[in-house]
Amino acid sequence: MLWSNIIATCVVLAGVPSSLAYPGMGEQMAEIMRRQGDSGEFDSTEPLGDLITLPDSQLTPTGADIKKILTGQGTPQSTTTWTAPKLGSSACQKDTCCVWQYIVNDMVADFRGKSGRCTSWARRAVRLGFHDAGTWSKTTAAQGLPGGADGSLCSTDEINRADNNGLQDICQKVNGWYDNWTKKGYAVSRADIIQMGATVATVVCPLGPRIKSYVGRVDNAKAGPPNLLPGVDQSADALIALFRDKTIGPHSLTALVGAHTTSQQFFVNTTRAGDPQDSTPGVWDVLFYGQTLGTKPTPPRVFKFNSDIALSKHPQTAPEWQKFASAGGQQDWNEDFAAGYIRLSLLGVNNINKLTECTKVLPGGTPSFTPNDQSNVDKWLKTADQSATAKKISNALHAGESLLGWLINLINGILGGLKKAT
Ligand code: HEM
Ligand SMILES: *[C@@H]1O[C@H](CO)[C@@H](O)[C@H](O)[C@H]1NC(C)=O
Ligand SMILES: *[C@@H]1O[C@H](CO)[C@@H](O)[C@H](O)[C@H]1NC(C)=O
Repeated sequence: MLWSNIIATCVVLAGVPSSLAYPGMGEQMAEIMRRQGDSGEFDSTEPLGDLITLPDSQLTPTGADIKKILTGQGTPQSTTTWTAPKLGSSACQKDTCCVWQYIVNDMVADFRGKSGRCTSWARRAVRLGFHDAGTWSKTTAAQGLPGGADGSLCSTDEINRADNNGLQDICQKVNGWYDNWTKKGYAVSRADIIQMGATVATVVCPLGPRIKSYVGRVDNAKAGPPNLLPGVDQSADALIALFRDKTIGPHSLTALVGAHTTSQQFFVNTTRAGDPQDSTPGVWDVLFYGQTLGTKPTPPRVFKFNSDIALSKHPQTAPEWQKFASAGGQQDWNEDFAAGYIRLSLLGVNNINKLTECTKVLPGGTPSFTPNDQSNVDKWLKTADQSATAKKISNALHAGESLLGWLINLINGILGGLKKAT
């Protein structure tokens, strides 16, 4: 059934006496309205790559499932798990996903902090996935230029572009994983390591969605075209246009920038290196949306990006932004982020129908999270102090440590210093 018909039916139903309404109708309406919002003119429903031309009769089960997700009717998250056979066993060799279990185990060890928050490695991995895929656009692809989720970010001089400041270390790690596993004879691509890294990182961050994850992308040794990644001082209109050219509509863009919920900036203002974009860095929560909007109180150390502020106010992105910020926003956001990220992770990929879904290798998510040190994080956030002591605290958060034990003395020291200064 077409969404427009469903909406028309709803409008009719909404006008009838409440005696004709049935239990649960309100909920269904809300769900239908939500999906309508997500698949209307503000969203992304275009198929990509080989799925544009392949007839449905030729789609593999994975190809068909991805097409459903891309056209707004699929399920972008999954809880599928398994127990991997031993590495090197014949059972392992028979399953394309098996080696990925072992790669992913290594990733998780780097991404999960002792506090339960995700580490800077995880945040960089999410950003890396975006910046590798983000060098694709409809315009440049039509000109025959390379770009997209093809691993080139970590194998060419793309990594030296200013856009990619801060991603050098995670590229080194990706290249380490690539070298180690290919030397052992496993045919893994850099593109897949990068995209798997992003979805692993997302689910390791507490509250993050468990996004369906695929392997089989082909590497390209050519750098993607420049100037296709967003700038922090671009207008909301320019950002919306930039992402539209990647088939990503304003709703998906609103969901995707929510990744800044975990981040701590370093290069936008180097004086404030390590300052987070919401009060809970390393946690995949919706506080970022409320604090950027200003509907949630924002302590001085939280550093809002101009681009995020602009998007939070633009008529095409503000409604979704407000929805994510409000009660129930987390679930809505997780679903929309997952769908948006799958699209992003397939930009420039022309063998989508032949990919293998390996979501089962992902660790389980953390659907609820109460850190035992948030009161100390909050103390640190109350000051904008950039002393060496404050940096130690920011580094501890970066590493995913709890702000407990010896760090408490440092935090109290900063607060004491602040009191003396004022
Ligand atoms: C309007 C679009 C966007 C703009 C202007 C933007 C800009 C930025 C900037 C300036 C930083 C800070 C880098 C630094 O100084 O260290 C950053 C960090 C980050 N961005 Fe974005 N971004 C955008 C969209 C996205 C998207 C779509 C994703 C992922 C889906 C993403 C994920 C991240 C992550 C995870 C970090 C933190 C990296 C870290 O902590 O090392 N961003 N972004
Ligand atoms: C690659 O293997 C070497 C040798 O075993 C190891 O020291 C290194 O940490 C591995 N690299 C990564 C990124 O896992
Ligand atoms: C960076 O932050 C510092 C400290 O808050 C501030 O004084 C400075 O003006 C900021 N610089 C820029 C370029 O925004």
